Amino acid sequence: MTQRSLIALAVAGLLTLSAAFVSPERSVRVDDDTKLALYMKDINKGLRGLRSTLREPERNAESIAAVRELQILITKSRSEDPARTAELPEDQRAAYALEYQKMMLDFGMKVMELESALLENDNEAAQAVWKDVNGMKSPAHEKFKIKD
Ligand code: HEM
Repeated sequence: MTQRSLIALAVAGLLTLSAAFVSPERSVRVDDDTKLALYMKDINKGLRGLRSTLREPERNAESIAAVRELQILITKSRSEDPARTAELPEDQRAAYALEYQKMMLDFGMKVMELESALLENDNEAAQAVWKDVNGMKSPAHEKFKIKD
């Protein structure tokens, strides 16, 4: 094999590899949502699913996996800024971002409590924490979401 065909082979391999990595599931969506909105939609789905699985202790492994997915989504959400930030005067944006970060962090910590209850197989406690987690949505949206 000549040096040139070796290089061609290597380039073809790299192209195949990058095609596999550059098309994660999320990029095939065709709407124009922000990244944060997409994470939020998945958080919403995850929490809805947990509402029923938390009632069934025999599904705790499934619930724990779902809770960990939520933790990942929340971590990703912490790297975003709410779209509403752009509507604020520039000198208010840093304080707003800080408030967002703190609320997201509280949200994440509450979801950690959910995992803790599940690890102890305490489904009653887990259901109570779920309510607290769910209750964090409205005040957060009041502050950070653009009004519909
Ligand atoms: C129970 C918890 C939560 C649920 C189920 C939830 C769900 C959602 C949903 C369904 C959307 C609309 C996405 C769309 O279709 O465009 C959304 C948007 C949004 N949520 Fe949440 N959310 C929760 C908690 C939070 C928290 C704790 C924060 C902030 C600390 C937050 C900040 C936002 C923001 C800023 C948007 C607008 C997206 C953007 O600005 O790009 N949410 N959320």
